[in-house]
Amino acid sequence: MEIIRTVSRLSEAVDAARAKGCSIGLVPTMGALHAGHRSLVERARAENDIVVVSVFVNPTQFNNADDLRTYPRTEEADTALLEACGVDYAFIPSVSEIYPEPDTRVFDLGPVAEVMEGAMRPGHFNGVAQIVSKLFALAKPTRAYFGEKDFQQIAVIRRMVELEGFDLEIVPCPIVREADGLALSSRNVRLSPEARAIAPQIHRILEESVAIKAQGKGPREVASLTEAAINATEGLEAEYYQIVDARTMQPIDSWEEAGDCGAAGCVTVYCGGVRLIDNIKY
Ligand code: PAF
Repeated sequence: MEIIRTVSRLSEAVDAARAKGCSIGLVPTMGALHAGHRSLVERARAENDIVVVSVFVNPTQFNNADDLRTYPRTEEADTALLEACGVDYAFIPSVSEIYPEPDTRVFDLGPVAEVMEGAMRPGHFNGVAQIVSKLFALAKPTRAYFGEKDFQQIAVIRRMVELEGFDLEIVPCPIVREADGLALSSRNVRLSPEARAIAPQIHRILEESVAIKAQGKGPREVASLTEAAINATEGLEAEYYQIVDARTMQPIDSWEEAGDCGAAGCVTVYCGGVRLIDNIKY
């Protein structure tokens, strides 16, 4: 595995691969890699000739300076994991390499980016669109892999791809969970032992909400009962729970309203001061 730190070397490597007709799988990450990332890398490895993984804590998508400052950075462990997965290129640039000057682009991301995370974290999705569009332009992937834990992010990236006209396939990959149901996240390391013991309740409550739907309740009622169940659990505080069309991310009033992609319940919960997100399909 080659560790690449410059944009010019990455371009050279991918251009050579493309010239030989190789397919390129890109896995964009912010590092602090765990088994969830590993599943994306393994899938990219199985489906492409060349695998590029980027490790870059993108400052433009953080709307909270403390969150950016304390975001876990574990480069040595990350490169060991990527090497073990048979990655060809680990792209680990500095901030100035990616942003030699401020990125002032504003993407017209539309309604998918206006609800839930978009409403709670102003500017976050524009920052995601900035970095992912740069990575796509640089790595020229045939396929790009994203975890479904960040469910809304995938819809936003699809919109950015449409706006920018990138010719590539977005591959959504299922959430990887701990044995007790907690969705894997780089932020889980911030959970105290007490919070870590409570956090699996989030997934348990989401699963219960599927059973509530089966009793014949509509999406608004399921959403409000689910949010109430989260808030009734000591140590958990829901920021939102919304049941949305899984493609448009817009809240639905009836199950029939969801299009071909179905409905998803998306949640953000504070657990011991750590902001966790999760989702479930109905
Ligand atoms: O999901 C993430 O880790 C980040 O938002 C991404 C897609 C790597 C962009 O920085």
